[in-house]
Amino acid sequence: MAQSNIAMIGLGVMGKSLALNLVDHGFAVTGFDISDKHRQVALNDAKELMQQSDKGQLITVESLAELLESLSKPRVIALSVPAGKIVDNVVQDLLNAGLSSEDIVIDTGNSLWTDTEAREQRYQGQLRFFSTAVSGGEVGARFGPALMASGNRDAWNYIEPMWHAIAAKVDAQGLPVGPFEKGEPCAAYLGPAGAGHYVKMVHNGIEYADMQLICEAYHFMSDVLGMSAHEIAGTFSKWNQGVLNSYLMEISAEILQVLDPITGKPFVEVVLDKAGQKGTGLWTAVNSLQQGAPAPTIAQAVLARAQSGQKAVRVKASAVLKTQVIKDHYLDKQQTLDDLRDALYCAKLAVYAQGFDLMKSTSEKEAWQLDFAQIAKIWRAGCIIRAAFLQEITSAYQAQGDLDNLLFSSHFVQEVEKRSLGWRKTVANSALSGVPMPGISSALSYFDGLRCEVLPANLLQAQRDFFGSHTYSRVDEAEERKFHLTWSEEKRAQISL
Ligand code: 6PG
Repeated sequence: MAQSNIAMIGLGVMGKSLALNLVDHGFAVTGFDISDKHRQVALNDAKELMQQSDKGQLITVESLAELLESLSKPRVIALSVPAGKIVDNVVQDLLNAGLSSEDIVIDTGNSLWTDTEAREQRYQGQLRFFSTAVSGGEVGARFGPALMASGNRDAWNYIEPMWHAIAAKVDAQGLPVGPFEKGEPCAAYLGPAGAGHYVKMVHNGIEYADMQLICEAYHFMSDVLGMSAHEIAGTFSKWNQGVLNSYLMEISAEILQVLDPITGKPFVEVVLDKAGQKGTGLWTAVNSLQQGAPAPTIAQAVLARAQSGQKAVRVKASAVLKTQVIKDHYLDKQQTLDDLRDALYCAKLAVYAQGFDLMKSTSEKEAWQLDFAQIAKIWRAGCIIRAAFLQEITSAYQAQGDLDNLLFSSHFVQEVEKRSLGWRKTVANSALSGVPMPGISSALSYFDGLRCEVLPANLLQAQRDFFGSHTYSRVDEAEERKFHLTWSEEKRAQISL
């Protein structure tokens, strides 16, 4: 029997889709899942594909020993299992079944990047541990995901042809092309262990914030401008033709058109307003706090999901907490919508700036040497945050790989300058009308904070020195020199430390 090129352990939604994508591109795949049903469904779904002569094949096995038998060497085994302990359990089972030190195990789940780093260390000498974070959901995995790979460099040589074949592709203009058309693949080796999962984590942080920004625009259009879901869908579709073109904008427009089959109301209005989360946005926000690399809009997006979860308290508060708002504030609808579009664009750009800054700071700390142009490139298609302006982000980092902040790129400097008044008016209108905009407004504060040559942290340092003798640096001395002031009025004097 011909040996398989790769095995997929875990044939749930993502694992099965990746396996079928591999078969579609001519690879022989061995599938394994502890559930009979998952194995059967995968085989059934592959049946039609395998009848075509240019396709690969899928076989399923019932034990890991059979799985190892079925593979050519070095064996390449992809895991599509839930993040956490299960990954280690499966790796241990593979070792027990006879995995060798040359074999390659790829974690394709949404693992925490520090777990991936620890695994690479733990399994050194026993196997080559590799990781590939996958973005694009079920359809992406089946017809072209974005793949963020990292780990053992030599292992990448075996994996690269398969990942390049199944990844989403873009043409020379950076626009997505079909799964069998020629193009640049959205799959890349990003660095040592942990780097791929880290970049995917930041992708998800950006995803949380981008979703939140779109939701805030919807809220404002509905509650301040009185627009129906249908009308908002029309505006989103129009925006999707311009600078805001993105997958998330496209699906938001589509969702807002759908009617609930039971009540006939706009579907979005029958969905309970409590957001769920699996935790990757939270990881990004925590990482931003730990690194001291500010990503306030990503953190706000996580907190907004948390506040949405406090539904019962919000219901009570809506009856109790009264506020003064400008009710009859005249707003020119078209102008207000243009301002909102500009606010969304600027806030979204600020979110990307936060995400790339976070990656820059971790890349320096971990000595990963992340290539930001390459990261922007592989996010142009296949992943959830794919957006037309990722081509401009790619160009910005191609022109200057060590940009201090994405907002410094000359193209974006000009874009924000001409749109910033709309951003400010939108935030002001949201505050005046009492409709929350945590994402769009925090992005504006981030931008203004960045622009401030002198922040009030001078007073803050003085406060710290006053109550805790925490010392301060002076503007007229080298920053490393620390001073303390004796704060009592009678003997005020500076002590050099
Ligand atoms: C992707 C998505 C995906 C994400 C889920 C759930 O890139 O395909 O980011 O990996 O985990 O969509 O996210 P939440 O449940 O946390 O919203």
